[in-house]
Amino acid sequence: MNLFQTRERRPLLAPSLLAADPLGIRAHIDALNGAHHWLHLDIMDGHFVPNLSFGPAFLGALRRTYPEVPMDVHLMVVSPESFFVPFATQGADVLTVHVEATPHIHRLLQSVRELGVHPGVTLNPGTPVEFLYPVLHLVDLVLVMSVNPGFGGQSFLPEVVPKIEALHRFREVQGLRFLIEVDGGVSAENAECLVKSGCDVLVAGNSVFGMPHPELAAKALLEAGRRGLNRG
Ligand code: DX5
Ligand code: ZN
Repeated sequence: MNLFQTRERRPLLAPSLLAADPLGIRAHIDALNGAHHWLHLDIMDGHFVPNLSFGPAFLGALRRTYPEVPMDVHLMVVSPESFFVPFATQGADVLTVHVEATPHIHRLLQSVRELGVHPGVTLNPGTPVEFLYPVLHLVDLVLVMSVNPGFGGQSFLPEVVPKIEALHRFREVQGLRFLIEVDGGVSAENAECLVKSGCDVLVAGNSVFGMPHPELAAKALLEAGRRGLNRG
C-alpha cells in the first residue's frame, strides 16, 4: 500500500474496531458498505493502558477477509520492540508506536520500516508535540491522541488541536510527507475543525460503530471533514 497516493482523497476515515460489536465484527464492518478507507485496530496490553484488546491472530484474520483494506495498527503496549514483529507479519500496513512506550523510538521506527511496514508515531495528550520532532523524518504517519488511550467513547480534548497545527506547519517547513491522523472522540461535530487544522486521517469508533447506521454515520463524518478542506 502506498499511503501517499491516498493523500489526494483526504480526509480518510479509519473506523476503530474497538467500538464494533465483539460478536459481530464482520457484520459491523460490512455494514459500512465501503464508506471507510482504512480499518483502525487498537492493541492494548493492560500495562501501557488499563485495558486489553486484540492480538496478532485477529489482525491476520482481518487481513485474509479484507485483503484490499489498509490495516492501521495502533500499538498501546509497554516495550513495543518485543511486540511489533507479529503485527507486521500478520498484515499491518501502518504500525504506530507511542513515543512514551520505548527509550529507543528511533531504532524501533527504523525496524518497522525494514519489515516493509509504514512506521507511525503517536503521543498521549499530556506529551509535548516537540518530543516527536527528532523522528518525524522517519515516519509515514503521526497519530495525535485526542483522548487518554485505553478506552473508546471518551470526550475529545480540544487542547490537542494546536499539536495538529504545529505538525502541519512542521511538515510544510521541512518538506516532509507524513500523514496526520487524529484518534479519540472524533465525530461529525469536530471533523471540520480537525481537517482544517491539518488532519488527513480521522479515526472514529463510537461515532461510527456506535450509531444505528454505520454507513450513514461514516459518510456524514467524511462530509463534515471535507468542509474543513474548503476552508483550510
Ligand atoms: C483509544 C483508542 C481509540 C478508540 C477511539 O485508546 O486508541 O482508537 O477506539 O474510540 P472513540 O472514537 O469512540 O473515541
Ligand atoms: Zn487507536
